[in-house]
Amino acid sequence: AQRKLIDEVLSLFQLTPEHLVNVKNKMRAEMEYGLKKETQPLATVKMLPTYVCAMPDGTEKGNYLALDLGGTNFRVLLVKIRSGRRSLFDHIVHCIADFLDYMGIKGASRLPLGFTFSFPCKQTGLDKGTLVEWTKGFKATDCEGEDVVDMLREAIKRRNEFELDIVAVVNDTVGTMMTCGYEDPDCEIGLIAGTGSNMCYMEEMKNIELVEGNEGKMCINTEWGGFGDNGCLDEIRTQYDTEVDEGSLNPGKQRYEKMTSGMYLGEIVRQILIDLTKHGLLFRGQISERLRTRGIFETKFLSQIESDGLALLQVRRILQQLGLDSTCEDSIVVKEVCGAVSRRAAQLCGAGLAAIVEKRREDRNLEHLKITVGVDGTLYKLHPHFSRILRETVKELAPQCDVTFMLSEDGSGKGAALITAVAKRLHLKKD
Ligand code: BG6
Ligand code: GLC
Repeated sequence: AQRKLIDEVLSLFQLTPEHLVNVKNKMRAEMEYGLKKETQPLATVKMLPTYVCAMPDGTEKGNYLALDLGGTNFRVLLVKIRSGRRSLFDHIVHCIADFLDYMGIKGASRLPLGFTFSFPCKQTGLDKGTLVEWTKGFKATDCEGEDVVDMLREAIKRRNEFELDIVAVVNDTVGTMMTCGYEDPDCEIGLIAGTGSNMCYMEEMKNIELVEGNEGKMCINTEWGGFGDNGCLDEIRTQYDTEVDEGSLNPGKQRYEKMTSGMYLGEIVRQILIDLTKHGLLFRGQISERLRTRGIFETKFLSQIESDGLALLQVRRILQQLGLDSTCEDSIVVKEVCGAVSRRAAQLCGAGLAAIVEKRREDRNLEHLKITVGVDGTLYKLHPHFSRILRETVKELAPQCDVTFMLSEDGSGKGAALITAVAKRLHLKKD
């Protein structure tokens, strides 16, 4: 009877092929709403224009600063682009001033800078981006509704130690797509499966109603994390998803992100474990203080617990580290729970990706599309099964697309620097 209850809970996380096709179709519909002027205000998938229209062509050169406010880390980089030779000088330090000091370039020339800022921004130009809202547990006050570049410029002014030429504000998905696009011209999609979840892609200008002009393409930051905020995923959401949402900093928002990204998977697992414990099915029915603590299951622990070939004793050891005293049976159940939650996440993410590659294929009137997705994020990189299940799902749901996944080895800062370099090149041409 105990096993039956556990299986019942796990089955809530099992998606049928019909569910996944449904998710794909709904994602596609939400994307189309987001591109249309009339329906855009209602769209949960925001489809924000990024003003990134050109890819690097290899003639860019010079030194560029890049800021990368990501999920897990904050990085400052100096990217040296030498034309012809794709070389990169990558430095990470804690803040710009320290970094410039360390580089001995403070007070030197006014370096152009690209800022990777991985939050939803309404852009009206490459260097203009108003923060729509914080996501992923960020909550700095008085920023929402303000221009990110203005805020950075003002802070630099207040410090009054150096000048910078801020050329671009770039979402991390966009930076990732660019980093990979430098190596592979088929790269037209950027995916982050990390603390948060998001995707960007190159869209035909004629389909973007919010921006004037019909020629060429522009990158769209979909902000697909908000998919489902209108209730369209309710059929597959579970009570555990609701609990995670309600306990989060942004209840009601980013529902798809909360089912698919690293920041929340551990929380879903924790909610299930609490419930199973309440029913006396785990931890001898005792809900410990630790288990009540938000955020104990980081992505790295989930990844460890789900590693193949990990003996149950080792799973118990990890749980012990987390302050959870488990029996051998407990550890089996915990591993199953982690597996069910991360599998669903990868499948949902794959369904979203299938929607976009299919859209690109249809928009280009192709029988068959070959496309590359630039990917980054700790969930994709660290988890033992996420990336494989994601790829399998895309293959199943978009059989006419040949999708290559390219891991961004240099983060998104390199891409931000490249966008800055492209902008400088185009600007120089204009002058
Ligand atoms: C980094 C990128 O490699 O990955 C960041 O440089 C990005 O721009 C980050 O935000 C995403 O991964 P995570 O797991 O840190 O959210
Ligand atoms: C969140 C942010 C989005 C970012 C993603 C991945 O969803 O809203 O802008 O791209 O996390 O870091």
